[in-house]
Amino acid sequence: MSIFESASHAATSPSARAKPVGAASSHLARRLQIEQLMQATETLEQDVLGRADVIHGLTQRPKTLPAHYFYDDRGSELFEQICALPEYYPTRTETAILQSCALAIATATGPCELVELGSGSATKTRILLDAYDQLGYALRYMPIDVSGGMLERSALDLLVSYPKLQVHGLVGSYELALNRLPSTRLPSRMICFLGSTLGNLKPQECQQFFRQITAALQPGEYFLLGIDLQKSQQQLEAAYNDAAGVTAEFNLNMLGHLNLRYGGNFDLSQFEHWAFYNQSEQQIEMHLKSLSAQTVQLKTLDLTVELEPGETIQTEISRKFSLNDIQQELQTQGLMSLQVWTDPQDWFGLLLCQLQ
Ligand code: AVI
Repeated sequence: MSIFESASHAATSPSARAKPVGAASSHLARRLQIEQLMQATETLEQDVLGRADVIHGLTQRPKTLPAHYFYDDRGSELFEQICALPEYYPTRTETAILQSCALAIATATGPCELVELGSGSATKTRILLDAYDQLGYALRYMPIDVSGGMLERSALDLLVSYPKLQVHGLVGSYELALNRLPSTRLPSRMICFLGSTLGNLKPQECQQFFRQITAALQPGEYFLLGIDLQKSQQQLEAAYNDAAGVTAEFNLNMLGHLNLRYGGNFDLSQFEHWAFYNQSEQQIEMHLKSLSAQTVQLKTLDLTVELEPGETIQTEISRKFSLNDIQQELQTQGLMSLQVWTDPQDWFGLLLCQLQ
């Protein structure tokens, strides 16, 4: 598909929140490029790997499932709801930090292209774009997301709000996108990884991810990282066990997603959400606990899974960081932190790093 076919489709898509028409839509299309990174063979490869991960995770002890299976359409909606929950402090805390330091970031980097990994609804992006706009800098934004639909919708909303903005979206995994980042016309570039998504990576995956970041940047370019900081067990556990039960529904929804995707017969009423802070690993762990002895089948994976009463399936880790440790780790990868911002309670940190 040509990028302009994709762009004009996006500009008139009925699901788009912003619905420009006629001249307005072709004007938007001129400022929008959306590139599908995955070729058919790569999609197939991903699919095979995805299946292998589920089979491996459900046949080992303790059982695990890859966290990316949270994010079907319903899961993405539930995650948006989680971000607005009173107990889930990370989103609003990071947003407040960004509001207070966006101008300082833009001043430090000068004109640069913003590359955002896992752009989602791009709400926080606006704060950065406002700052670059206020300084009179050209606005170029490269969102990267596996969900093409979400990427198109948020890009269109941004194009309507920022008449000088150019968007070049990449649909695909971070890994693929970082390997194939097209060159920028602006003097510099800043890769943004917000929301403490870093916390969902195991330590080794985290190191590998930093290596990919450094390989994608030129010396002197920037990396903006948002991380959730260590805090009391009580506060952390409340954030992942909200009173309204949205996180529980988000966790259980993964089984519904697997049912649809792999012809499964998980009975959601036979599982319970379980989230706790593992002090020694400094991470929240989310699990699904089996409420009975049960046998589950995933037909298209040709897989039968036996679960004992009380047996758990780990669905996510969410690591909580110390600023010193993460700065050291970044430094060993050649990413020097130029400035660090936190909120008054030191709940969340935002680091502006530069590749040496
Ligand atoms: C996406 N990620 C940073 C969230 C987190 O806090 O680890 C996912 C999440 N899981 C439960 N609530 C939110």
